[in-house]
Amino acid sequence: MITLLMAMIRESLAIQHERDLVYCRNRVKEVAVKMGMGIVNQTKLITATSEIARNMLIYGGGGIVRLEVIIRGKQEGIQLVFEDKGPGIADIQKAMQDGFTTGRTLGMGLPGAKRLVNEFAIQSTLGQGTTVKILKWKNG
Ligand SMILES: Nc1ncnc2c1ncn2[C@@H]1O[C@H](COP(=O)(O)OP(=O)(O)O)[C@@H](O)[C@H]1O
Ligand SMILES: [Mg+2]
Repeated sequence: MITLLMAMIRESLAIQHERDLVYCRNRVKEVAVKMGMGIVNQTKLITATSEIARNMLIYGGGGIVRLEVIIRGKQEGIQLVFEDKGPGIADIQKAMQDGFTTGRTLGMGLPGAKRLVNEFAIQSTLGQGTTVKILKWKNG
């Protein structure tokens, strides 16, 4: 029953302001708690979410986060797709390296996020935008 209700969670969150980052983190946490995800996985997912959503706000000029509960066989998890129509990333391989930044921050956001989740995909086209997709299993 809980699984059926969880399977209906599918929503879009706009990220245009700092406060939207807070709302997004809180909502992801809420869904993770409802699902019964352990605190360690919750923290990993929320950290990854924060980093990618902040990139979207700072570098992508804002965008949309699509949140969805995924059920695959006996596994249950949370999928997040971050989409912006910003300038895009010139060299994704570089952007995925520890310490690479075009800003003044640590350059650990993307590579760190990748390590914290079970699935990570990034796609970007210069002048068109960036999409990052992550998935975190409840148990995994
Ligand atoms: N959504 C995005 N749109 C455009 N560029 C991005 C986006 N996300 C990340 N980048 C680029 O990738 C770099 C690395 O991102 P990240 O690993 O989070 O480090 P940081 O945010 O500290 O720079 C950023 O400095 C930026 O140049
Ligand atoms: Mg970052």
